[in-house]
Amino acid sequence: MPKISNKGQNMPESPIRKLVPYSEKAYKAGKKVYHLNIGQPDIKTPEIALEAVKNNTLKTLEYSRSEGSEEYRTKIANYYHNNNIEVKHNDIIVTTGGSEALLFTFGSIMDVEDEIIIPEPFYANYNGFSTASGVNVVPVISKIEDNFALPPISEFEKLITPKTKAILICNPGNPTGYLYSKDEILQLADLVKKHDLFLIADEVYREFTYDGIKHHSIMEIEGLEEYAIMIDSVSKRYSMCGARIGCMVSKNKSVITTALKFAQARLSPPTLAQIASEAALDTPQSYFDEVKTEYLGRRNTLISELEKIEGVKIGVPKGAFYCIVELPIKNSDNFAKWLLEDFSIDNETVMVAPAAGFYSTPGVGLNQIRIAYVLNKESLIKAVHLLKEALKVYKD
Ligand SMILES: Cc1ncc(COP(=O)(O)O)c(C=O)c1O
Repeated sequence: MPKISNKGQNMPESPIRKLVPYSEKAYKAGKKVYHLNIGQPDIKTPEIALEAVKNNTLKTLEYSRSEGSEEYRTKIANYYHNNNIEVKHNDIIVTTGGSEALLFTFGSIMDVEDEIIIPEPFYANYNGFSTASGVNVVPVISKIEDNFALPPISEFEKLITPKTKAILICNPGNPTGYLYSKDEILQLADLVKKHDLFLIADEVYREFTYDGIKHHSIMEIEGLEEYAIMIDSVSKRYSMCGARIGCMVSKNKSVITTALKFAQARLSPPTLAQIASEAALDTPQSYFDEVKTEYLGRRNTLISELEKIEGVKIGVPKGAFYCIVELPIKNSDNFAKWLLEDFSIDNETVMVAPAAGFYSTPGVGLNQIRIAYVLNKESLIKAVHLLKEALKVYKD
């Protein structure tokens, strides 16, 4: 039989999707499952974006330019200007989601066997994009006790080798909800300049910040123009995950020229979704105010409910809509399966994402889970109640 590639065999499974067969079993058994495990927001997409698709008069759904339509990129640049980021339309390549922006970035700046340093826990698909690009992830551990703040710069320096090409941060973080301070960004800026590395920031959750704390983009930092690459997406900002539109942004011309070759090889980002995404840029501020108030309420509800459970440790999130919770158990993989297979109260149970999949150091995060607060407050209260009752009877 023809053989599958080593790369293909090494591609990691999604730590969330591997539990799907267990949730399907739970459904078949007639259980209601509260999903604390997924990052699909239940928030409505702005009407203005949906209307733009409904009302379009295209006769042929053509390819767009590989880098995305100039009109859309100009409007994105204007959105960034309103967010304290000064870039031009030709510093931007429109991609099929933030996912493709990450793939183009990895492909443009790293060769096989090169290394990328990432604070862990990190968005699990960074492992997949690294494997697909033949790149090795070098994790630097951030701790729940510090709410997952940036590890000391000396820890990064210990890991830098001649193969290190980049540092990647997610700000605000999935799965941690951590929001980096301006000072932390400046420390990273000094580090990458000192060692001549790229600094990649995944800022797809930029809009979602709480407690009056401001988001600071790496693109705001003077002197970082040749080093900084920003990843962005409409998926979470406008609750448009299915549009599959994102972008990569850099003032480094060689990065953009190289990424454009990857973009040309796949011809075009989705045309219809660009129309929706362009229209979404006119979403009124009131939409974001409402959405942010909703997420803030959910975060506060989630944290106060979790604090009622004995023995849990919470990495309190300041942004995005995730948090990592340490449970008084040994193995959250087994616990997550048990919740779906063997536990229910009034035929209801809860699905969580085991956090080990968000670490690349083996054996770390085994007793942690990631919770996404993409459910309404009532459901969150019920879900955390189920978690609390489950922990009372669970045996490792
Ligand atoms: C941190 C982070 N980056 C990138 C993505 C990719 O998003 P998309 O490809 O939908 O833009 C996600 C999706 O959940 C994410 O959480």
